[in-house]
Amino acid sequence: MSRNDTSIVILAAGLGTRMKSRTPKVLHKVFDRPMLSYVIDTATGLKPATIIAVVNKSFEKLDSFMPLPGNLKTVIQATQDGTAHALKSALPSLKSFKGTIAIMNGDTPLITSSTLRKFISSHKKSGNAISVLSFHAPDPYGYGRILRGPKGVPEGIVEEKDASKEQKRITEVNSGVYALETTALSLLSNIKKNPKKNEYYLTDIIGLAIDKGLTTGVYPIGAEDEFIGVNSREDLLAAHEIMRTRIVDSLLKKGVTFIDSFTAHISPDSSIGSDTLIYPNVFIHGKTTIGKGCTVFPNSRIVDSTIKDGAVIKDTTLIEESVVGRDAHVGPMAHLRPGSAIGDGARIGNFVEVKKSNIGRNTKAMHLSYIGDAEVGSGSNIGAGTITCNYDGRRKHRTTIGKGVFIGSDSQLVAPVKVGDDAYIGAGSTITKNVEAKALAVSRTKQKNYPDYKRERKG
Ligand code: UD1
Ligand code: MG
Repeated sequence: MSRNDTSIVILAAGLGTRMKSRTPKVLHKVFDRPMLSYVIDTATGLKPATIIAVVNKSFEKLDSFMPLPGNLKTVIQATQDGTAHALKSALPSLKSFKGTIAIMNGDTPLITSSTLRKFISSHKKSGNAISVLSFHAPDPYGYGRILRGPKGVPEGIVEEKDASKEQKRITEVNSGVYALETTALSLLSNIKKNPKKNEYYLTDIIGLAIDKGLTTGVYPIGAEDEFIGVNSREDLLAAHEIMRTRIVDSLLKKGVTFIDSFTAHISPDSSIGSDTLIYPNVFIHGKTTIGKGCTVFPNSRIVDSTIKDGAVIKDTTLIEESVVGRDAHVGPMAHLRPGSAIGDGARIGNFVEVKKSNIGRNTKAMHLSYIGDAEVGSGSNIGAGTITCNYDGRRKHRTTIGKGVFIGSDSQLVAPVKVGDDAYIGAGSTITKNVEAKALAVSRTKQKNYPDYKRERKG
């Protein structure tokens, strides 16, 4: 089949009152991305001629919420008068298009491109005017039930609110994915408002097509867990859990070890290399890449970052938009803020915060430090409690520390300031002037001892 004779319409304008939220339903996120962006991805996988997203005026600037493919057009459904009305809003944009129109709901983020492709090719082979993608739901509550005659011939779709007791027992339900030939579009005008919900139901088009003698097919293709339609927070949680499990299963197959797969939340845009070990309660967000042979200990969160091979992320560590080099160790209880790069073999230890800084190879900052807006060379040692004072109350300044530097504990480096290669800073110093290579700088006051102080103090 030629893919360019297919266009896809995504119905996404409903506000989703059942979500009880100020956020429009399709913008609710599964992992880090709005539900709608997954549906757009699935549609894009088919390389259709155009994708039309029917949206609500409140989020018409869709590209501010998600990246969009070049062939996507948004149209606004002025009033939310039902799924048939939503499809009608897209028609002016399809005026010159001849071929198959695939329709998807914007609240079904788990449908895969391969299922959609199979469905559309079944539709095309059959020569149907309209096809529906169905699935078997053990708990069909809320979905439109597929009505079939005695020989299994499709007769229509009945929505939950209109279904009889008997019909409610039907477990074959409508996924919200349809394929229709442009020739069947005129039927949309024959759909009457549903009196119970005061909306035009797209599902009514099936019965109308059958009455008119148009060929209609219903295809149960794909795995049941692809079709969850997210209407409530419970559904959103269920969708997250299905996607989470899918991701963990695929990582297990790629050689990743999980100590407890139930509390590993790995975003679909992340990757993890083989022989990496993930402890419980780990969250990997956004586009994060974790290399081979790494370990991520419990309660850590890694966002949009790169962790290179062999790195160890110790307990309760937060890493944001940063790079951790090969065999480097970060944590426990460390925070890498955006723009940090930790060199190969470096050590960032307990209660160390790093921001917008480059830490050289094998450099160590093991305890209780703040390193912000700094450049640190390789093989240096940043003593416990060292602070780069990067902010003067108005502006941020940089600190440059060379290679092989030893910074004694509890030192402050008041930026802008430079410490040359192989220099030493005595413990407890406040460094306000540059320190040349190989020099020792000490800025603390000299220690004075007062003998017999105890006796003079009187208690
Ligand atoms: C719909 C189907 C149901 C199917 C289920 C699958 C109808 C009448 N029912 O029910 O048979 O089993 O999906 O998940 O179609 N939308 C608009 N404009 C509107 C109303 C809705 O764009 O005026 C969009 C929504 O944003 C949503 C999609 O259409 O993405 C489906 O609407 P929703 O209200 O979720 O329908 P369901 O009750 O889930
Ligand atoms: Mg829905």
